[in-house]
Amino acid sequence: MKPIQVGLLGMGVVGSGTFNVLRRNQEEIKRRAGRGIEITMVADLDVVRAQSLVGEGVKVVSDARAVIANPDIDIVIELIGGYGIAKSLMLEAIAAGKHVVTANKALLAVHGTEIFAAASDKGVMVAFEAAVAGGIPIIKALREGLTANRIQWIAGIINGTTNFILSEMREKGLDFSVVLKEAQRLGYAEADPTFDIEGVDAAHKATIMSAIAFGIPVQFDKAYVEGITRLAAQDIRYAEQLGYRIKLLGITKRVAKGIELRVHPSLVPTKRLIANVEGAMNAVMVQADAVGTTLYYGKGAGSEPTASAVVADLVDITRLHTADAAQRVPHLAFQPNALSDLRVLPMDEVVTSYYLRLRVADQAGVLAKVTGILAEAGISIDAVLQREADEVVIEGATPALPQTDLIILTHDCQEANMNGALAQMQALPTVLQPIVRIRKEELA
Ligand code: HSE
Repeated sequence: MKPIQVGLLGMGVVGSGTFNVLRRNQEEIKRRAGRGIEITMVADLDVVRAQSLVGEGVKVVSDARAVIANPDIDIVIELIGGYGIAKSLMLEAIAAGKHVVTANKALLAVHGTEIFAAASDKGVMVAFEAAVAGGIPIIKALREGLTANRIQWIAGIINGTTNFILSEMREKGLDFSVVLKEAQRLGYAEADPTFDIEGVDAAHKATIMSAIAFGIPVQFDKAYVEGITRLAAQDIRYAEQLGYRIKLLGITKRVAKGIELRVHPSLVPTKRLIANVEGAMNAVMVQADAVGTTLYYGKGAGSEPTASAVVADLVDITRLHTADAAQRVPHLAFQPNALSDLRVLPMDEVVTSYYLRLRVADQAGVLAKVTGILAEAGISIDAVLQREADEVVIEGATPALPQTDLIILTHDCQEANMNGALAQMQALPTVLQPIVRIRKEELA
């Protein structure tokens, strides 16, 4: 049988990785897919550079629409990224009857409903293993491997840049801004790292996993997103003393009232495997009723790790494209007409536990006032630690008044209650700085 023909849009890091993996492993891939898979056309604005990467046998053009218009192309790989031109091109490829493979988490998290509906109407596949956690086959695991299960929650380290920064902050005792500069110098962080450090990239990925896990539409606009930019080295150190590491987690959870979907820094017990995932690595923990807890670990970005996921999708499509569309694995794991309208909860309704750090005046009665406010709000305390403050300066006070750091771990409570208690504690004259609040996940 003649090889299936693939058009590649965007010959960047992942594009060239895809080309190289496909060529290097072509014999084994053909034995697995039952048919050869060949990239025969590439679109990239830098035609000369792209041509030098793929050699003379592959047609390289600057106009992506020429690839979509080519009737010989069966599958289009979209590696342009972003919500703009990538969306138009993907919808045009679908309209032209092409199957699409993409690594574009932002596009799917925001416009997935429209894209999957267009693909279903046209009877084509949109495959996106590379969109979540790069080389880790988490989409395959959630959508197929765990299909027997009722999934309860997912918690993942799904952004390598921020995990690298947090690891460096912990190991070297440095503050966020110092490590960010170093990460940029080493090429771990983009020149504009906003999407990574503000948690947006992780929220795109969590949104996609949430949809697949619980059979709900992709709803990025409902995700709570908080990044790592306000984390201080001393909180990482205090957390360590209490037996926790701070990780940026993407969390989605089924609870009685609906679905939680949130990305924020979280204390995780150091004894959990996921707490020990360091550097730029990714890991996703899934709790499901039949299998229990499973953990998936690997490289979440990079040329060939991401290409590994792209090529796996190419193989899937090659095997399934002649199958009746109704027999294929649904885009979001559940049949499109069986998606649920479970509510994604606003953050105020989320129930979790907390780490609080209060810089207070070291005087009689301060701790009693703080714990009194928590008690009044029905918030139960799990642990309290008092540590001498790093620097003891109050403007205008001579000599400086004695200060101390109060670190409090709480049991579970509703976020709205905690917000109320925080406002009251902050208003105490003996609370001298903005209170630090970091959520805590036991992941038991
Ligand atoms: N920028 C992402 C990360 C990789 O740092 O993990 C692509 O999603």
